[in-house]
Amino acid sequence: MRHLMSPLDFSVEELDTLLALASDIEKNPEKYAHACAGKKLATLFYEPSTRTRLSHEAAMLNLGGSVLGFSSADSSSASKGESVSDTIRTISCYADIAAMRHPKEGAPMVACKHASIPVINAGDGGHQHPTQTLTDLLTIKSLKGHLNNMTIGLCGDLKFGRTVHSLIHALVRYEGIQFVLISPEELRLPSYIRQDVLDKHQIPYKEVVRLEDALPELDILYMTRVQKERFFNEEDYVRMKDFYILDKKKMQLAPKDMHVLHPLPRVNEISVEVDDDPRAAYFKQVQYGVYVRMALILTLLDIHVD
Ligand code: NCD
Repeated sequence: MRHLMSPLDFSVEELDTLLALASDIEKNPEKYAHACAGKKLATLFYEPSTRTRLSHEAAMLNLGGSVLGFSSADSSSASKGESVSDTIRTISCYADIAAMRHPKEGAPMVACKHASIPVINAGDGGHQHPTQTLTDLLTIKSLKGHLNNMTIGLCGDLKFGRTVHSLIHALVRYEGIQFVLISPEELRLPSYIRQDVLDKHQIPYKEVVRLEDALPELDILYMTRVQKERFFNEEDYVRMKDFYILDKKKMQLAPKDMHVLHPLPRVNEISVEVDDDPRAAYFKQVQYGVYVRMALILTLLDIHVD
């Protein structure tokens, strides 16, 4: 049985297959409409979510399956003190596959050790968010046609942003990738990722504070929200929250074929005036998130459609 805890749980070849399946689903949705008939997905969300929970649910419904779950710890027995391991043993009796989001790093990993069904990590604290990474890879591949030879700017909260951490882990396995890490000093990418991932793979990168300095050389700009819920005090958050605001004026500095991605939710970091720019790809990215999760559910359930 397979789980998805980190993007590295799939080899590059397996990822290629999964992304190709997602693209086929995009082109021929009717072919997959009953592939999961009789199967159930449980969404176990101990932290707020709009896209991740609902896109997993939409994915299972699009495949002809059904869904059950809870959307906050308060409405589950976690509020009575039940452990993640007892909860997943219970859910294994009700569903065929589960997606779990939890504020504690490693909670989905604990769950998968006690589960008799595949478990998907739908975000664990500031650690990893592998299904967002699958979404990001599909978006980049669909828009650019490839995942090699690119300069990728990662901007915002690189310290607490789990989407960025997972995306870096995944992208360093492709040829010719370089990063521009754009953040205030306080929100730099943690040194364990700089050393253990970027340096270890000899990936060229530079760190800059000003977005304007990075924009002209980027193929992809990946904006992120300052992760309010992971700050230790409100004061620091307030100081950081509007550090970056991408607007029309800054977009003039960017190449014509650069794409702007954002895992969403956005707060202030992308001005709504950018939404009409053809380079704004963050709502397309939301749609790709459904196709890729359909492909993921089929893969983890080992269901093949001819
Ligand atoms: C992200 C997350 O939850 O980490 N959202 C998402 O899943 N699309 C990003 C964020 O909350 O800022």
